[in-house]
Amino acid sequence: MQIKKVGVIGAGQMGNGIAHVLSLGGYHVILNDIDKNTLEKASHNIKNNLERQVNSKKISAAESNAALKLIDYTVSLEDFNEVDLVIEAATENEPIKQKILNSLLTHIQPHTILTSNTSSISITRLASCTDRPEKFMGFHFMNPVPVMQLVELIKGIATDQETYDSCLQVVEKLGKTAASAEDFPAFIVNRVLMPMINEAVYALYEGVGSVEAIDTSMKLGANHPMGPLELADFIGLDTCLAIMNVLHEGLADTKYRPCPLMTKYVEAGWLGRKTKRGFYDYTGEQQIPSR
Ligand code: CAA
Repeated sequence: MQIKKVGVIGAGQMGNGIAHVLSLGGYHVILNDIDKNTLEKASHNIKNNLERQVNSKKISAAESNAALKLIDYTVSLEDFNEVDLVIEAATENEPIKQKILNSLLTHIQPHTILTSNTSSISITRLASCTDRPEKFMGFHFMNPVPVMQLVELIKGIATDQETYDSCLQVVEKLGKTAASAEDFPAFIVNRVLMPMINEAVYALYEGVGSVEAIDTSMKLGANHPMGPLELADFIGLDTCLAIMNVLHEGLADTKYRPCPLMTKYVEAGWLGRKTKRGFYDYTGEQQIPSR
């Protein structure tokens, strides 16, 4: 199936990045959010991020302008009546995702493929609350979407090959690389990455090292572009905790127990960069450890 028009649900950090790369790939994008302010912020972010790419000569000004013209913003799912593909990128909360998918069904065409950018939730379970489990799959981008090369593609138990092939074609048209993952909790990237981040939080909790010592160790000792605590702040501690809980519950193994310190930070509303405080404080010119 030839995909031309894509609906993206959720204009947060993932949703606006997804709209950005789709529009650069030549797709007409309808970006939806329930909150008008989030849509305005998303439009501003997309413009800024395209400008960064123009300034570093990754794309031309003409390509950036053409991409901007391909994105429409809406608070109503009724505007999804002509989309060929939906990518749901709302918050990492299963009841919310199910509710959104349910409310979407009356507005889309029978041929429309439904996907979720979930980083951990069962694709088979999400698919089962729609009217088209064979046309449902996981379409998981990495953050920051315009920079990261990988997209994980996850088939649910009922997903058909045609749906998979159509999504693979989109990934290829975006110039990204797909990795196929089976539908087990947190798939591949987060199955490996999140326990590492969780372990770094345990190392902090147990006093093995300071925030700076842990991050410096992994940056200079393992050549990671960001330390694990800085990366947790970048992803969002609420998202990291949600993924650890999915691993813990889904695999029933104590090795995935979320660190109590991570839970405490989330309870405090210290969610990382997006709230300007997590393992680091981002209110000043330079990030400094928050405790
Ligand atoms: N849009 C467009 N361009 C962007 C961008 C964005 N949002 N963010 C960064 N860039 C560009 C910059 O403009 C810069 O471009 P040039 O090299 O051409 O100048 C380049 O990316 C590097 O950025 P910076 O110079 O600002 O900073 P940096 O060198 O420290 O790199 C980083 C930033 C790319 C984020 C790097 O630190 C990194 O790769 N970090 C790890 C990210 C990672 O692991 N992501 C995966 C998270 S897990 C996930 O996403 C899965 C999940 O479900 C939770």
